Amino acid sequence: MKHLIDISDLSTTEIDELIEVANDIIENPVKYQEKCKYKKLATLFFEPSTRTRLSFEAAMIELGGNVLGFSEAASSSAAKGESISDTVRVVSYYSDIIAMRHFKEGAPMAASLKSDVPIINAGDGGHNHPTQTLTDLLTIKREKGRLQDLTIGLCGDLKFGRTVHSLINAMIRYENIKFVLISPPELKLPDYIKNDVLDKNNIPYEEYADIEEVVPKLDILYMTRVQKERFFNESDYERLKDSCILTSDKLKTAKKDMIILHPLPRVNEITTAVDDDKRACYFNQARYGKYIRMALILKLLEVN
Ligand code: NCD
Repeated sequence: MKHLIDISDLSTTEIDELIEVANDIIENPVKYQEKCKYKKLATLFFEPSTRTRLSFEAAMIELGGNVLGFSEAASSSAAKGESISDTVRVVSYYSDIIAMRHFKEGAPMAASLKSDVPIINAGDGGHNHPTQTLTDLLTIKREKGRLQDLTIGLCGDLKFGRTVHSLINAMIRYENIKFVLISPPELKLPDYIKNDVLDKNNIPYEEYADIEEVVPKLDILYMTRVQKERFFNESDYERLKDSCILTSDKLKTAKKDMIILHPLPRVNEITTAVDDDKRACYFNQARYGKYIRMALILKLLEVN
C-alpha cells in the first residue's frame, strides 16, 4: 500500500502520469464520474483549510465516491486527548483513503504507520505539502508547457512556507532549474533544505530581499503568505508581514510570459490589481488542484 507523505514518495514517471491523468480528467470528466463508486475519502483536518479540504472532497465526489471527516481538531476526539495514531487507526476502518492536515510536522507520517488505508499528507506544520506541489506542477505544465529550463522565484515566507519546501523537492528532479529565493533575512529558506536539497544536488540559487531587482529574469514568480500561525510572537509577525508585496508596478520589467503563482490564501502579499494581469495564474492554480487530487485518489486506490 502506498501513502503520499512527501513529494519524494513519487517517482518522476509517477508524477508525469498523474499530470497526464489530470489533463485527461479535465478533457473527459464524464469518463471518471463512477470510478470511485462506493469508495469513501476521510478528511481529517486539525488545521484550517479551504482549498485543500474542499478540493479533496469535490475530487472524491466527482469520482462518484463519498466523503466523511472533520474540519477542526475541536470537533474530533483530539479535543478529548486522543492520539493521532488511535484516531487514524479507527478512521481507517471507516474509509478507503485518508487526507490529513496537522499542525505537527511528521503527524501524517506517524499516522501512516497505523493506518490500514492510504494516507495523504494534506500539510504538516511548516514542513511539507505534497498535494499542493502536484497542483503547482500541473499548473506549471499547463501554463508554461514544460517543467524543465525554468528560473523560479520563490517569494515571501520561505522559512515556514511548507508549499515552497515541497515544491523545491519536486523541481530539483527536472533539467536546468534555477531558484531565486526572495525573502527578508528572518524568513529565509531553512539551512536543511539549502544544504541537503539544493547544494547536494548542485541546484543553483541566489538570495534577495526584494522582488524588483530580480523579477526580469524569472519564468515563474511563486508568492507566499507570511505564515502567521507559525510565529512565536505577534510582534515578529507584525514587523515582517508586509516585507514582500507584489504590485502591478513591480511587474513592469517582468517577462511577458512569466507566470505568477500563489497557493492561496492571499492576505495582502499580492495586490488585487494584479489579478487582472494576464500573468496571474493563482486562481487557475486553485482550480487545477481538484483535478490532480482526483488523479491521486485514483492512483492510491489503484483504480484504472
Ligand atoms: C497553503 C498551506 O496550507 O500551506 N494553503 C493551501 O493549502 N493552498 C498555503 C498557506 O496557507 O499559506
